[in-house]
Amino acid sequence: QEGARVPHTFPVPSSGGADSPMSASPAPKNIDYYSKFSPSPLSMKQFLDFGSENACEKTSFVFLRQELPVRLANIMKEINLLPDNLLSTPSVKLVQSWYIQSFQEILEFKDKNVNDEKVTYDFTDTVVNIRNRHNNVILVMAQGVVEYKETYGTDPVVSQNVQYFLDRFYMSRISIRMLLNQHTLLFGGKVKVNPAHPKQIGSIDPNCGVSEIVRDAYENARNLCDRYYMNSPELILEEFNAKEDGAPITVVYVPSHLYHMVFELFKNAMRATMEQYGDCMEYPPIHCRIAMGSEDLTVKVSDRGGGVPLRKIDRLFTYTYSTAPRPSMDGARAAPLAGYGHGLPISRLYARYFQGDLKLYSLEGYGTDAVIYIRALSTESIERLPVYNKSVWKHYKTIHEADDWCVPSNKPKDMTTFRSF
Ligand SMILES: Nc1ncnc2c1ncn2[C@@H]1O[C@H](COP(=O)(O)OP(=O)(O)OP(=O)(O)O)[C@@H](O)[C@H]1O
Ligand SMILES: [Mg+2]
Repeated sequence: QEGARVPHTFPVPSSGGADSPMSASPAPKNIDYYSKFSPSPLSMKQFLDFGSENACEKTSFVFLRQELPVRLANIMKEINLLPDNLLSTPSVKLVQSWYIQSFQEILEFKDKNVNDEKVTYDFTDTVVNIRNRHNNVILVMAQGVVEYKETYGTDPVVSQNVQYFLDRFYMSRISIRMLLNQHTLLFGGKVKVNPAHPKQIGSIDPNCGVSEIVRDAYENARNLCDRYYMNSPELILEEFNAKEDGAPITVVYVPSHLYHMVFELFKNAMRATMEQYGDCMEYPPIHCRIAMGSEDLTVKVSDRGGGVPLRKIDRLFTYTYSTAPRPSMDGARAAPLAGYGHGLPISRLYARYFQGDLKLYSLEGYGTDAVIYIRALSTESIERLPVYNKSVWKHYKTIHEADDWCVPSNKPKDMTTFRSF
C-alpha cells in the first residue's frame, strides 16, 4: 500500500535565503523528502471505517506514521516562504520548533515493528504528546503576526500572503488534529467506546442531530451575551427536511466542528443585535433555519443587527480584523464574546475542511445572514488539504503586477477637451 505512493516531483527554485531558517535544523533532508508526497485526503467513510469493528490500531499506526510526516512536511516547507521578518519573530520560531520536534518524534517509528505491542502503545503516547504540544499554535502564531505588523507596518502584498498562508496553515492544523484525535479516541483508552458519546466513532457522529447542536451553541453564546449586556436576543429555530419530511435533520459529521461554527455565528449575531439596539428592552430575535436538501445541509443564522456594507464583507474574514476591543491575552478573564477576529475565518475553515463553505450576506442598515454549507452526503465529505508545490511557491514569490481594471479617478474630468468644434 505504501509502495504505491509515488512522490510528486517539481523543481522548486531555491530563492535567496527563503529556506535558510530550516537548513539550520537537524532534519532538513527528511522534510524535503516527505514534502514531495501529496497528503492523502480521507473521506468521512474512510474515517468511519478506521473505527469500525474490523479496524485495528496497527492499520491506523501504519497509515499515520507515513501520513503525519507528509502533512507536517508540506506545511513546514510553506512556513519557510513567509517574509524573513515574520519568520524571525520569536513566536513563529517557537511554532516552527514544535513542528520540527513533532516531525522527528513520528519519524522515530519509521522502521519499528508493527506487531510489537509496545511500539503501537508508545506511538499512541507520542500522538497524545504532539497534540498537547500544538495546543497553542493559533494564539502564538497570531502573536507573531501582530508583532510583525507592529514593527513593519502593513503592506497589502504581505497582508495578502499572510492571509493566504494562515488559511492553509490552520487548515493543515485542523486536519492533523483530526487524525491525531481519531487515533487517540479510538485506540488510546482501554475501551473503544467513548462513554460520554457512545454513538460516536472517535470524534465523528454518524447521526449528528443538527438542531440539538444549534440549541446548545445558542444557549452557551447567550450566557456570554447575558454576562456582557445583561440581556440577549431570543432564538427562533426552524427545520426544513426535504429528504424526509418532518424528520429531525441528521448528518454524518464532527459535532465539535459544527458546534464551533454555529457558536461563533451566534456570538457575532448577538453582539451586532445588542450593539444596534443599545438600551432598548426588547431585541429582535435571531432566526436560525436548518435545511436538508439532496446535496447541501444548510444552516442560516439571521440577525437584525444593522448589517455590514458590502465593501467590508471580505475584510471580516481576515485574521486580524475585529471591531471589538482586544481582550487581555492572560486568559485570567472570562471568555470574551468577541475580540480576536478569528471567529469567522476559522469557522469558514471548519466548513471548508469537509468541502462545505461559510458565507456572509448582509443588508446594510438592517441585518446579516451568515450561512454554513455542509455536504449532505458523507461520500462527498472529503478532507480539503493544502499541498506544497510549485504553484504555491509562485503564489508567494510572484510580484503582484498592476491591477487589470481601471482605477476610477476622484477628480472630475474636464469634459471640455472632448467638445467637438
Ligand atoms: N452578524 C454580524 N453583524 C455585524 N457585524 C458582524 C457580524 N458578524 C461579524 N461582524 C463583524 O466582523 C468582525 C469579525 O468577526 P469575527 O467573528 O471574525 O471576529 P470577532 O467577533 O471580532 O472576534 P472573535 O474572534 O472573538 O470572534 C466583527 O468584529 C464584527 O465587526
Ligand atoms: Mg466573533
